[in-house]
Amino acid sequence: MPGQRRAPGDPAQIARGKLLFGINCRGCHGADLRGGDLGGPNLLRSQVALSDLNGELIVPIIHGSRQNMGMPAIPLNDADANAVAAYVRSVIETIQRQGAPPSSGEQVPSILIGNADEGKAYFATKCAGCHSVTNDLSKIASRIPDPKQLQDAWLAGGTREEEEDPEGTASTARTVTATVTLPSGETVEGKLVRIDDFLITLTLADGSQKTFRRTENISKLLIHDPLKVHRDLLSQYTDKDIHDVTAYLVTLK
Ligand code: HEC
Ligand code: HEC
Repeated sequence: MPGQRRAPGDPAQIARGKLLFGINCRGCHGADLRGGDLGGPNLLRSQVALSDLNGELIVPIIHGSRQNMGMPAIPLNDADANAVAAYVRSVIETIQRQGAPPSSGEQVPSILIGNADEGKAYFATKCAGCHSVTNDLSKIASRIPDPKQLQDAWLAGGTREEEEDPEGTASTARTVTATVTLPSGETVEGKLVRIDDFLITLTLADGSQKTFRRTENISKLLIHDPLKVHRDLLSQYTDKDIHDVTAYLVTLK
């Protein structure tokens, strides 16, 4: 059902589901889920599999609800059946993300409908202050060859994990930092570890952590988030801007 969100896949569960699928389902549904030698239908085109959000449609079938139609009950407990369902969903999602079924040959992805020249002009005014196509974004389309992923990456400001090492001292171009001014006038600067309405915790340059009570011992707080601009820009792009910039970026090979 469009608009409805599936539960996000857990990689460990999906990996187990893949293994269990190979043992219990592959003979009938095929290694690629497109139907197998023993007569199971293509699951990539199955409404049931396409609509399943969290095992609620697939698991009963695994447990035998289609026995009279030729699909035997498979002896898997609930957790294992759910893992198989998660694996089936993950395969379908990967294919939907790539916009094409596997091994269907080269296709022009439908997201490449923008105007690369206009994207280039847009880039020059909105992005070139922070990025250069000869420097940090050089060959970005070779690094991220899938246009959809490239589009997701530039919209989000990167494909990397949000914070790989929040407690550590290592900084990257996307590290969020903060400067705290104490009532004495002293300032403390560090990497932002955690912030809520009451407390803020920083990792200082020497690796130590310091927590401040926001209401009592801070007179000024400045937060520097390198990706804030990316998030703010999200609400400014028109669909055309997005298509044009993507069309331009895919030329950067
Ligand atoms: C012995 C062969 C066989 C095995 C093993 C088997 N299936 Fe099936 N499966 C079928 C057949 C045949 C159907 C079609 C039943 C029908 O028409 O309703 C089916 C239907 C389904 C459907 C519904 C498809 C639809 O759109 O109606 C799902 C989902 C499914 N199987 C998943 C699995 C999973 C997951 C496993 C392994 C845990 C599995 N099957 C193992 C033969 C098999
Ligand atoms: C105010 C500065 C700023 C502006 C403006 C900006 N970005 Fe970024 N962008 C960043 C920062 C910071 C990162 C994270 C860099 C990193 O992780 O190395 C980033 C990351 C990216 C990445 C991911 C790079 C990678 O190597 O994964 C892409 C692609 C990108 N931006 C494209 C754009 C585009 C296109 C625009 C204009 C529409 C834009 N950015 C505007 C600061 C900016």
